[in-house]
Amino acid sequence: MTTPKEASPGLFFFAAMTSEVAGKPVSQWALEDLRDAGARDVAVVLGSLAPERVVEYYGDGSRLGLRLTYVYQGYPYGIAHAVYTVRDFVGDEPFVVYLGDNVILEGIARFARDFEGGDYDAYVLFAEVPDPTRFGVGVFDERGNLRGFVEKPRTPPSPYALVGVYFFRPPHVFRAIETLRPSWRGELEITEALQRLLDWGLRVGYGFVKGWWKDTGTPEDVLEANRMLLDKRWGDGYVRGTVKSSRVEGRVVVEEGSAIVNSTVRGPAYIGSGSLVEDSYVGPYTSIGEGCRLLRVEVENSVLMDRVALEDVPWRIVDSIIGAESTIKGGGDSKPKGIRMFVGERAVIGL
Ligand code: G1P
Repeated sequence: MTTPKEASPGLFFFAAMTSEVAGKPVSQWALEDLRDAGARDVAVVLGSLAPERVVEYYGDGSRLGLRLTYVYQGYPYGIAHAVYTVRDFVGDEPFVVYLGDNVILEGIARFARDFEGGDYDAYVLFAEVPDPTRFGVGVFDERGNLRGFVEKPRTPPSPYALVGVYFFRPPHVFRAIETLRPSWRGELEITEALQRLLDWGLRVGYGFVKGWWKDTGTPEDVLEANRMLLDKRWGDGYVRGTVKSSRVEGRVVVEEGSAIVNSTVRGPAYIGSGSLVEDSYVGPYTSIGEGCRLLRVEVENSVLMDRVALEDVPWRIVDSIIGAESTIKGGGDSKPKGIRMFVGERAVIGL
């Protein structure tokens, strides 16, 4: 198997700090995917939302086998704007844009080879989806040739959504972006830049993603990505932490420094390092971040980010996403009780 150009410079990545699924931020799964496709130098474009957390988490990238450069986008004027901010970084080298909230189970190596082997100015990926109105969508003629792109159409011209991975060979993409005007959502749309390239008669190649792809835009998407990655990316799991008087069944990852005490953990599941699970039940498709504390609780098909504390919660927690450093604490008795909460922005709580 050939890999794309070794250490190809100018491969670029656009990220926001996204949810953790199956033990890693979504953007880390994306970065590892880029690395596995042959990327070494990656620019991480940071928006205005807590960019310092991204820098703190990934550092220089050496932990992942990458050399990371951070580019500050400031106010997020859209993906095309983010791409424009890296024009000095990429110079005249071909590059790939990978949206940090996308997960592609088969990876991108196959498409990178296709792009590098063809004489394309741009190359995009499509995935067939049930609801294309949420995405950029491909327009094809009756012979199946790509004719155009439309962003979030009310009436989709095809079921093929644009995946958040785009390959470009400069300089045309930058010229195309310079001609864009903000869309109805106030963004410079990469979909419109692609349309320009087609209009100018440039070569836009494409491939179809086989199997599973997700843009983790909604809580349901995050839970689905978590399930998929727990299933496919951790093999049979492993136990590096301590397991005492407990049952650990199925494919479970128990990271170093964590402890399962007097509990049942049923895989697929992931328990991050330094977490404690005591007198509790952790059901299938649950990911628990680092440094969490679960005491006398039941949780299933859920994502708990880092340093979450759950104690004596009188209901089983299901299909839930709990943000970092959150605490949910029950009264520890069976009498009817009040409920006290500090709830973050846009939270959804089903009782
Ligand atoms: C963006 C693009 C859209 C693409 C999607 C893939 O959408 O604008 O064309 O299909 O990413 O994840 P957004 O996430 O900005 O709504």
